[in-house]
Order: sequence, then C-alpha cells, then structure tokens
Amino acid sequence: MSDSVSLHEITDFAQALALEAGELIRHERDHNTLRTDYKQQTELVTHADIMADEFITGAIRKRFPEHRILSEETMPDLTQAEHIDTPLWVIDPIDGTVNYAYGHPQVAVSIAYAERGQVQAGIVHAPFAGQNGKGETFRATRGDGATLNGQAIRHSNASELRQALFATGFPYTKDALEPLLKRLDAMIHQCRDLRRMGSAALDICWVACGRLDVYYENVSPWDFAAARLIAIEAGAHAGHFGEVPENQPADLWGKDILISSPKLWLSVREVLRNASGY
Ligand code: IPD
Ligand code: CA
Ligand code: CA
Ligand code: CA
Repeated sequence: MSDSVSLHEITDFAQALALEAGELIRHERDHNTLRTDYKQQTELVTHADIMADEFITGAIRKRFPEHRILSEETMPDLTQAEHIDTPLWVIDPIDGTVNYAYGHPQVAVSIAYAERGQVQAGIVHAPFAGQNGKGETFRATRGDGATLNGQAIRHSNASELRQALFATGFPYTKDALEPLLKRLDAMIHQCRDLRRMGSAALDICWVACGRLDVYYENVSPWDFAAARLIAIEAGAHAGHFGEVPENQPADLWGKDILISSPKLWLSVREVLRNASGY
C-alpha cells in the first residue's frame, strides 16, 4: 500500500477522478464539436479522450509521483504491466469511443489501481447511463465486494448455456477477426443471444450486476483491469480460455479473457476452446 494511504482512500481518489473525467467528457460532447482522428484502421480517438487521459494521469502523477501509469491515450506502454515492483494505475479515459462519437450512452471512464500485478481497486463510471443524470458508478476494493451507485451487486444465477446472454466485441484490426468469428459461430448456436455494446469495461460490469451472463474478448489492460475486479468482487468467475504467459500478471492480461456467472464458466470455456483449436 502506498505511503500509509489505505485502499479505501485510493478507491475514493479513483472514484473522484472518474466522476470528474465523466463530467469533462459529457461537457465536451454536449457543448463542443468533437475533433476526431484515427489511430489505426477504424479506431477513432477524439479530443475528449486525450483531455480526459491528461486530466486523470496528471492528477495521479501529482498525488503519487512514484507510481507507474498505463493509460490508453498518453502512456500506452504495455510493458508497464510486467513491472510489478511499483504500484501501477491502469486508465481508459473513454471506454467506448465509437459510442461516444456517435452519441450513444454506453461509454465509461475506467480507473484501476494494482499492487504486485494484482488489481486492488477499480472504478468504472458511465456518465451517460441511468435515469437521474448522475450516471452509474461501479466500484470495488479487493476483498470488500462490489457496488453500483453504492448498492451491492451480484452476478446472475444463469447455470445453463442456453439461458446465457453473452457479450463480446470486435477488434479494430480486422485481420484479427477470423478466430473470433469461429468462436461466435460456436457460441451463438448454444446461447440465448449475443450483445455487442461497444464498451468492454461496461460489458464486464454488466456481468457483475447480472445484466449479462458471459463476456469474452481479446482486449488491452485498460479495457478490463478495473471491471474484472468489480466482477470478481460481485462473485463472478474471471479467467482466460487460453494460456496466460508466465511473465504476465493474469489481472492485466487481456487475451482470451472470459468472465461469467460461476456455473457457466467451464462450459463456456469448453465451447471457446473447441472453436479455437486449443
Ligand atoms: C474498445 C471497447 C470495445 C472493445 C474494443 C475496445 P475503446 O475500447 O471497449 O467494446 O470491443 O476492443 O478497444 O477503444 O473504445 O477505448
Ligand atoms: Ca481506443
Ligand atoms: Ca477501451
Ligand atoms: Ca479508450
């Protein structure tokens, strides 16, 4: 733990940053014309992604100058996740940039805090969600359960594949699509239905609170680090359907990630493995 700052204080700090960043991106979308650019192939980035990233990383650097930061837009060096000697913050300033740019509500700010490669605190804040204009804030501190706007959350009770609503996402790099399409083909024949909502962090939080039963995808640490802890603390099962390399902390390794209600996990892994030729 950092300089006698408790994990709850760390979580409070992360939550305050996520809420403020949420206000920032809401303001930019409501009052300014979005300036957009392309990162690769179809991957969009807006000026609000950069602003929110600079705001969050700047505030962390000021309060915890000795900590490492991994953030999608301004500090995307993935090797940071392998250094487990120093506390690490993992930031996605806008998860769901395409939704954001098109005016859809499924958008989140994601902030995770890890020690020794294990995520200890996570906030996923969806500023455009909910009825009261305050958004939805998912929160977890390791060992202390998970909440949505302060209320404890729990995964669904789905126990059979045919009752399962599952979510996934498609990579921006379209040449990586082929293996995913094989897995989808196998899953859609066995599950209730499929959702592709455009924010990995919210997909996982929705498994945590029972709005979805299964999530799997290949993503980056900033997409899932906070949400995975939230799902675990809500009692869901989180793991990978492939192997995690030895030098990678499982909490930050985003390939073949599979998160579901506990009774479904093994059967979904079998379907995905069979479809992947593992
Ligand atoms: C993306 C979203 C999407 C997922 C992509 C991510 P971004 O994040 O989480 O749901 O399918 O793999 O890259 O680019 O909007 O932060
Ligand atoms: Ca992106
Ligand atoms: Ca993301
Ligand atoms: Ca992003």
